[in-house]
Amino acid sequence: MYILRAPRAAERQPHFQSEAGDFTLFHGDCREVLGELPPGSVDLIFADPPYFLSNGGVTCQSGRMVSVDKGAWDVSRGVEENHAFNREWLAACQRVLSPNGTIFVSGTRHVIFSVGFALQQLGFKVLNDITWYKVTPPPNLSCRYFTHATETILWAARDSRSRHHFAYDRMKQDNGGKQMQSLWSIVPPLKAEKRFGKHPTQKPLALLERIVLAASDPGQLVVDPFSGSGTTGVAAARLGRRYLGVDLEPEYLELARSRYADLSGERSTPTVGAPATERRGPARVQPR
Ligand SMILES: C[S@@+](CC[C@H](N)C(=O)[O-])C[C@H]1O[C@@H](n2cnc3c(N)ncnc32)[C@H](O)[C@@H]1O
Repeated sequence: MYILRAPRAAERQPHFQSEAGDFTLFHGDCREVLGELPPGSVDLIFADPPYFLSNGGVTCQSGRMVSVDKGAWDVSRGVEENHAFNREWLAACQRVLSPNGTIFVSGTRHVIFSVGFALQQLGFKVLNDITWYKVTPPPNLSCRYFTHATETILWAARDSRSRHHFAYDRMKQDNGGKQMQSLWSIVPPLKAEKRFGKHPTQKPLALLERIVLAASDPGQLVVDPFSGSGTTGVAAARLGRRYLGVDLEPEYLELARSRYADLSGERSTPTVGAPATERRGPARVQPR
C-alpha cells in the first residue's frame, strides 16, 4: 500500500482501499490523517472545506424554502476559530505537498477570505483566483441580495520556489483553441451524479476533472482532505490518477465508495479486514 509508509499511518486502517491500492478513503479528521502521511508525497490537493454557514438561515432547494443545515461540521465557531482551523488544515496540506505540488481550495464568501489569508500567512504562492460560475443557481428567496451564482477557487503552489505543473495545451484545447480563462461556467452536479445518494455540497464532476487535468499527470497522487461524496476521487480515477480522500462522516465515505465501485467495476463490499474484492470490469475509464 503506497500510502502506508509512515509509521503512524500504518496503524490507521483505511475505510476503503481499492484492490490496486490506487483509491483510498480514510475516516477521520483531515488534520490528523494528513499528519500521518509522508512529507512531500502528494502531487495535487483539491479542498472544499466547511463553509461555516449552517447557522439557522434559509435557502432555496428545488423551488422550496429549506433551512441551511448541512451538518454539525458546517457550524461556524466564530471568525477567529474558523481561521485557526483553516490555518491548521492548510499547514497539514503544505507539509505533504511535493515541492512542485499545488492546491485548489473552493469556497464562498463565508470562508474564502480566511483561506486566502491563511495561504498568504503560510507562504504558499497564490497562482490564480478562479471564479466558478454556476450558470443555473437557485433564486435568492429574500430578494435582498444579488443571486449567489459563483464560488471562488484559489489555486496555490507549495511555496515561492515551486515550479508548478500546468497543462496549458490541454486547457487551451478544452477551450476551443483559446487560452483557458479564470472564469469557469460549469453547471451544478447533474442528477446522474447524485444517483448513489445526496451530499449537501457535492461538486460537479466536470469541475474536478478540469482541475485534475490542469494540474496533474496520470499516475500522480491526488488528495482531498474533505472528500464528501468523493467527486475528486471519481475525477482522479477516471483520469488515471491515484486518490486518497478523508472525511469525518462514514456515510459520505460510503457514498464515495459506491461512486468508485460503479466506475471501476469493483464490488462494493465491506473493507476493513475484508477479503479482496472481485473485478467486474476495467479499473478505470478513459479520460474524456
Ligand atoms: C463542503 S463538503 C465537501 C464536498 C465534496 N467536495 C463533494 O463533492 O462531495 C465538506 C466535507 O468535509 C467533511 N469534513 C468537515 N470537517 C472535516 C475535517 N476536519 N476532516 C475531514 N473531513 C471533514 C464533511 O463531512 C463534508 O463531507
